[in-house]
Amino acid sequence: MLNFSYYGHSAFLLDDGKHKLLFDPFLTGNPLASVKASDVKADYILITHAHGDHIGDAPAIAKKTGAAVVAIPEVAALVKEVATNAEIYEMNVGGEITLPFGKVYMTPALHSAGVAGGCPVGFVVNVGGMNVYFAGDTGLFPYMQFLGKRVKIDVAILPIGDNYTMGVRDAAEAVNLLNARYVIPVHYNTWPVISADPEEFKKLTESKTTAKVCIVKPGEDLELTTLDGKV
Ligand code: NI
Ligand code: MN
Repeated sequence: MLNFSYYGHSAFLLDDGKHKLLFDPFLTGNPLASVKASDVKADYILITHAHGDHIGDAPAIAKKTGAAVVAIPEVAALVKEVATNAEIYEMNVGGEITLPFGKVYMTPALHSAGVAGGCPVGFVVNVGGMNVYFAGDTGLFPYMQFLGKRVKIDVAILPIGDNYTMGVRDAAEAVNLLNARYVIPVHYNTWPVISADPEEFKKLTESKTTAKVCIVKPGEDLELTTLDGKV
């Protein structure tokens, strides 16, 4: 099984029944947060970059839960300032590691890092029998076509809020390049500056591609492994 729990903005949890993978846990100060940082559970925390709306509560959660952290060295160093004993898997763009739940491949992202010397990243995670791409914050970039050829992307989790990342139109083109089967939009409507209509994204994407867009609200779960009837 593979369950997706959306916590609002770009924060979400993937749970394969044995391992809890927490992504970009910005919860404190997140107007859409559906869970408190003090209540969230995690075995691994994957962080795309050091902007506050992504690294968020990761250092505090790592300290409290003992979750292992996956990040570039510059972001990992920020975590270690708070969670001095945290187990860290440092990696960088183009690298892949194997963890007990599956593989983690670090992708480029077209954005800024939020920390000197760093770069923003995304992840393709193989977990629960599915390949899940989380783009992090990014503009549209042609390398996405390579990501879609490298492995079959079952689920793409993409920002659509515009201003700081892709908007609806470019995110729909990203789905085309990625050739993803299912898409979950994130990083929108947290604040007025990233207002976007997920229904517009769904309509446009499903008219341009064969992908199916799944709109998940903060606080909602989606059982990814049941999407196409295979449990
Ligand atoms: Ni950012
Ligand atoms: Mn962001």
